Amino acid sequence: MTLDIDPNSLIHPRSYGAAGQPHEAWTQLRAQAPVWLCEPDNYPSFYAITRHADITDISGRPEVFSNSDGIAFLSLRQLEERKTGPSPLAQMRTIIEMDPPEHRDFRKVASGFFTPRSIGRLDAVVNECARQHVDKLGEEGECDFVELIAERHPLRVLATILGIGPDDEDLLLRLTQQLLASDDPDLQRKAENREQALAELGADLLKLFNRVLEDRRARPRDDLATIIAHAQMADGTPMPMLETLGYYLIVFTAGHDTTRNAISGGMAAFLEHPDQLARLGAAPELARPAVEEIVRWSSPVNYMKRRLREDVEMRGVRMREGEDLVMFYASANRDETVFERPFEFDISRHPNRHIGFGSGEHFCLGAHVARLSTRALFRELATRIEWIEPAGEAALTESNLVVGHKALPIRYKLRPAA
Ligand code: HEM
Repeated sequence: MTLDIDPNSLIHPRSYGAAGQPHEAWTQLRAQAPVWLCEPDNYPSFYAITRHADITDISGRPEVFSNSDGIAFLSLRQLEERKTGPSPLAQMRTIIEMDPPEHRDFRKVASGFFTPRSIGRLDAVVNECARQHVDKLGEEGECDFVELIAERHPLRVLATILGIGPDDEDLLLRLTQQLLASDDPDLQRKAENREQALAELGADLLKLFNRVLEDRRARPRDDLATIIAHAQMADGTPMPMLETLGYYLIVFTAGHDTTRNAISGGMAAFLEHPDQLARLGAAPELARPAVEEIVRWSSPVNYMKRRLREDVEMRGVRMREGEDLVMFYASANRDETVFERPFEFDISRHPNRHIGFGSGEHFCLGAHVARLSTRALFRELATRIEWIEPAGEAALTESNLVVGHKALPIRYKLRPAA
């Protein structure tokens, strides 16, 4: 069989905005070319890795498949933009761009905070946050689910963890979207040109982080922003500024935008599969497996890039040191050799070995937070929704890394809170 694949559909943000994740192409690739040299327009070429087993293998060998050149796969234009001089973003270095052994030292700074036991303490607060957001829907009506709920609930949860006041939530939401949806004409930062936009965005992020950092250094509190501000390395020296600001960058942004896309993707799946929403309403204890299925189904973190530190042969393809590969989690999460009926949305799926939170060395630090807030929200929604239906065209973000809905209009009727 020959491959019938448009290479642009794998990586062009516009294609994700118009058609969503390219599942048909990935299905062909998993079957016929699981390590495929993709040569799109306006991007460098890369190896597309689409099978679950290969992605977990690669993720387990960080000394060969490196993160230190970044995890986003940039277009030729973006690569050019980054050459035009130091951007304020260069003053921040995140743990996701580090390799071991260094990565382990820096990950330890916050890993204690993110354990299930530590996050479990937030249970009551997160449940209350979910209830308040569902209350905003009123008894019946129409709204954009993204605007009213999906982007607000995880943002409030993260703000609580970080100790950020409600006044800063709007600013953080805007800056995060400008950073993570920088290709989307509706969400990107507007300026004279893209270089300028990136520089101004970096400066605003830096200003926010420096303000929080100075405050927490002067007035420590019981929150994650304080833990990061006062972090020490194993030898007792303070965490350097570059990595301290980098920690703020990844937690302040990845800490809510990813979950927002899981929640809107989950709602879109329930609108398409109302029987699954009814099941959850009748058996709220299914919320735990339902969240895993939502993350598998929506895979909001679409891929991670790795760069080869040496020549490697995989599935008969010889890849060279210095080349890039892109691991498509969203493809692995539909791998027919791992999941029975991979294209069925089943909230009680068991086992569910999805890798929506990644695998190995860089496994998502915030997975328990994401699970807790998504679970609380859908438990509340499913028990209160009497009926719900789409109320117009949904819209997808023009983005290839963090992917999902930018609008999801719904019409509904709710029962009062218990
Ligand atoms: C449904 C929501 C989320 C999804 C799908 C998601 C997904 C991911 C993925 C795929 C990775 C990379 C894993 C790898 O390379 O193997 C990652 C890393 C990371 N995530 Fe998440 N994430 C979510 C929510 C969160 C939240 C709520 C936080 C923080 C509060 C967070 C913080 C991080 C951090 C700090 C890393 C870097 C870890 C490292 O490099 O060691 N994420 N996430």
